[in-house]
Amino acid sequence: MTDHRARRGRYPLRLRRDAVPWERQRPTWREARPRLIADALRRAQARPGGEWYVLAASRDIRPGRPFGRTVAGVEVVAWRDGGGRLRTGPGACPHLGAPLKDSPVRRGALICRWHGLALDGTAFAGWSPFPAYDDGVLAWVRLARAGGGPPLERPVVPVRPHPAGAVHAVYTGVGRCEPEDVVANRLDPWHGAWLHPYSFVDLTVVGPAAGDGGGAADGFTVEVSFKVAGRAAVPVRAEFTAPAPRSVVMRIVEGEGQGSVVETHATPLGSDAAGRPRTAVIEAVIAASDRPGFVIARAAAPALRPLIRAAAARLWRDDLAYAERRWELRSRGALPG
Ligand code: FES
Ligand SMILES: [Fe+2]
Repeated sequence: MTDHRARRGRYPLRLRRDAVPWERQRPTWREARPRLIADALRRAQARPGGEWYVLAASRDIRPGRPFGRTVAGVEVVAWRDGGGRLRTGPGACPHLGAPLKDSPVRRGALICRWHGLALDGTAFAGWSPFPAYDDGVLAWVRLARAGGGPPLERPVVPVRPHPAGAVHAVYTGVGRCEPEDVVANRLDPWHGAWLHPYSFVDLTVVGPAAGDGGGAADGFTVEVSFKVAGRAAVPVRAEFTAPAPRSVVMRIVEGEGQGSVVETHATPLGSDAAGRPRTAVIEAVIAASDRPGFVIARAAAPALRPLIRAAAARLWRDDLAYAERRWELRSRGALPG
């Protein structure tokens, strides 16, 4: 057990006096049993996701302009109607198939550039909307697909810190893999200090996590220090859980930033020209703190967001390589374990 309980609130930073060189840290491979990770992945996949997919950050769908993304092979267009509400539907115009993602939005309606057909978000001329949900951080779309399980009225949105006391930023990256490879990477917390020595140190998986669902062995509880600068690090206790088949949540349950969450959502896009799958990682970092200084941090949110995104992008350079490697091995039946 680290000493951060006693220090919480007063000395968030800890100076590591005896920094261990990367190669001399404790190997974690014996504990990171492939079976444990595979079981956690299976449990995640068995949860109902209600066929909801994270489409984008809420902020990416701005008034006045459409947003297009192919999700699970389905071309989707999204925009804001006159009241600012999220609207989504098929991305091809029902008249002759023009790409609606290039259509101007006028007074909340999408106007097709080819012949002026106007869509206000309700069913029209053979075009039917997809159910959409904006949770304030992320925009979701529901696609009914064969074998996808029963649809849910709402997506499974993880418990988050109250927006008034939090700063959020969303990172998006794309990898050549399937959502399960992204989820498997997130359900392997043991790689943290080895693969990301620039961000994490002293990582120990201390046991299962209860998670939002309350089920035993739902995920993993980890003690880890986030590197800040030089030898300074912030020790925390965090839980990794998977509330839905394509979502993994890391929640800080003790230490600096308690209640903060990192939500990783894997959205299948489709296949590339060579037939390989492409998956978007849409990750929301929702940082909270009960420190007085955090009020200032919230005021600086526009400046903080690019920094949070840059930190996520650095981690995902390595994590997407991990997920892509896993897919490659899996697709030729060579995944160990
Ligand atoms: S293709 Fe859209 S109006 Fe003709
Ligand atoms: Fe990682």
